[in-house]
Amino acid sequence: MRPPAGDDEPRKRIPTMKTRKYRPVSTLDGPSHVAVVREIFATITGRYDFLNHLFSLRRDVAWRRAAAERARFGKTNRYLDIATGTGDLAMAVAGMHRGISVTGLDFVGEMLHRAGEKVRGTSLDGRVAFLRADAMNLPFPGGAFDTAGIAFGIRNIPDRAGALREMHRVLVPGGVLLVLEMHFPSQPLFRNLYGFYLGRVLPRMARSFSRNPAAYCYLADSIMHFPAPDRFVGIMEEAGFSNVRCRPLTFGITCLYTGVKIP
Ligand SMILES: C[S@@+](CC[C@H](N)C(=O)[O-])C[C@H]1O[C@@H](n2cnc3c(N)ncnc32)[C@H](O)[C@@H]1O
Repeated sequence: MRPPAGDDEPRKRIPTMKTRKYRPVSTLDGPSHVAVVREIFATITGRYDFLNHLFSLRRDVAWRRAAAERARFGKTNRYLDIATGTGDLAMAVAGMHRGISVTGLDFVGEMLHRAGEKVRGTSLDGRVAFLRADAMNLPFPGGAFDTAGIAFGIRNIPDRAGALREMHRVLVPGGVLLVLEMHFPSQPLFRNLYGFYLGRVLPRMARSFSRNPAAYCYLADSIMHFPAPDRFVGIMEEAGFSNVRCRPLTFGITCLYTGVKIP
């Protein structure tokens, strides 16, 4: 896989991992965590897709497809993709479910710009729109969407319960929430291997490919600090979702959570 060209110039202005590190996630308060997240995603956009595919050996494509398969439509025929980034889950859902319209939402303009470029001129153009907004304050009335989804975004939102309540509000009664998130596995052998990969291999690879390699130290740190699957199921239930299920994917390094808004 060849890295896409195009972001060499800004690289000179971004401090390297040696000169700037993000504070550990466990020491960040809510506003500082949000500031770190905004900065990270504004600086890694150029190679975000390429590195996602590389670091996950393209499993990320299958994970989003598994999520898209669980989307359900019939009342509004509208799907909301929260923390859409460069739009891959939004496009997967639109591609799989004909006749629906899709809104992808993110608070980082650079990511949305790339998402818009990817959709332009494709068969999805006209059915997928992108919007700059905060997941904590969704600019939609209650009951506006049949399905909402968030892929690898909830880990980056400090007030997870608040964000999940917002997602619950904008769903129709009977609507479905899809959450994809990465986990640090509990099985001891795999945990050691994955810990080595996250802590040692990934930062080195990021130094070769990303203009902001420190972002990938944050990635590893944030995965290690995300609640275990059974705890996250509880957080979804507390936010109002019913029939919450967790499906481990690829040895449990990612989980697909689904929940329903009961009328
Ligand atoms: C790891 S990326 C995931 C992007 C995409 N969903 C995917 O599957 O690749 C996380 C995204 O969450 C966005 N994000 C984090 N907190 C957010 C918030 N409060 N509101 C909107 N977007 C947010 C970031 O800007 C970033 O684009």
